Amino acid sequence: MVFELTEEQLAVQEAAREFAEKELKEGVIDRDRDMTYPKEQVRKMADLGFLGMMVSTKYGGGGMDTLSYVLAMEELSKIDNSCSVIMSVNNSLVCWGIEQYGTEEQKQKYLTKLSTGEWIGAFCLSEPEAGSDATSQQTTAIDMGDHYLLNGTKNWITNGGTSQVHLVIAQSDKEAGHKGINVFIVETSWDGVAIGAKEDKLGIRSSDTHSIMYSDVKVPKENRIGENGFGFKFAMKTLSGGRIGIAAQALGIAAGSYELAVAYSKEREAFGKPISQHQAVAFKLADMATKLEAARLLVYRAAWLKDQGADYATASAMAKVYASEAAMWNSTEAVQVHGGYGFVKEYHVERLMRDAKITQIYEGTSEIQRIVISRDILRKDNLYLPILSADGEKA
Ligand code: CAA
Repeated sequence: MVFELTEEQLAVQEAAREFAEKELKEGVIDRDRDMTYPKEQVRKMADLGFLGMMVSTKYGGGGMDTLSYVLAMEELSKIDNSCSVIMSVNNSLVCWGIEQYGTEEQKQKYLTKLSTGEWIGAFCLSEPEAGSDATSQQTTAIDMGDHYLLNGTKNWITNGGTSQVHLVIAQSDKEAGHKGINVFIVETSWDGVAIGAKEDKLGIRSSDTHSIMYSDVKVPKENRIGENGFGFKFAMKTLSGGRIGIAAQALGIAAGSYELAVAYSKEREAFGKPISQHQAVAFKLADMATKLEAARLLVYRAAWLKDQGADYATASAMAKVYASEAAMWNSTEAVQVHGGYGFVKEYHVERLMRDAKITQIYEGTSEIQRIVISRDILRKDNLYLPILSADGEKA
């Protein structure tokens, strides 16, 4: 078992850390307060290749492994989770889905622009009445012969107002249940695509979250991804990888909170010594460090399994559920360590605490992750978890 990162992975980690410190930290409090989309920062992320890290170089991406992507997500998420969710959706939900299941024409037309950040993508699955219960799609895509006619509403769409491309999941044959669901590449400039108001959120406030309305949008047949009826499986498979990205975001929040708490506790004095010298605070730091390391191992291993071509759906669900709980725990404790200063915006920890909450909700709530995990372990007839090695069923 090797725990060391390669030189390339260390270089990515270092570059992401430097970028987050130099380019994201300044202004993050204002952007969060004013819900300002980080346009300039996203452009710089694109220039550095952060928006298509895992895409093959053939399509303009970085050709990197999932672990490198996770390391970059972790570093950015210590500071600016609006930027890191924009990055995560573009990389693991949009680019990965098109590269894995799209046609060569779709890759040439869309992936080459998305991987370089020239265009940004959004993943449109959730609906007002279909969040966790993703098979209950009300959005319809009716086969009209030479095109599909798309109608419906999507909710809470990250990158909703700033993207040029949507991957839209829609029902084409209600009788067929989830086997009647398709997924389409939809350009937001097409007639009938309308963007709702930007959501005013608890956390990740400067990221761009909208509802989207599709009214009689004509989608060319060649913009369907995969065989007829593949849309639900596409969503599930893509979300299994997306959850590794969100788990890495949660890991970054847990790490950022921990680092801020350690630094502050060494500076702040009470009763004649730094508060880190008081056991009440030192034990908090010990718990935070332990949860952080446990989360890190789960997230890195899920990424590693994906890179081995092994089944990673359960590993990514475990990584997300645990890392998001570590993010909530560590950020809440970091606020506590900061005392009154933790409750004001200047010290960053209150923002991390607000940002942490969404990691327990999007790309599958913690309850959904537990459904995924429990179904998998209960269908096995032995007690050995297959995710301990990469030798399990191939994805
Ligand atoms: N990989 C491949 N196939 C899968 C799969 C996976 N990970 N999970 C399920 N499937 C397949 C099943 O094998 C089954 O296929 P067959 O009928 O051919 O056997 C089919 O999909 C249906 O599966 P289930 O019967 O398990 O379906 P279900 O209705 O019980 O739902 C669920 C399963 C896990 C609860 C699923 O609905 C789910 O993941 N819900 C959460 C949705 C979600 O994550 N939403 C997040 C929105 S996106 C977002 O947040 C993006 C953003 O902007 C940040």
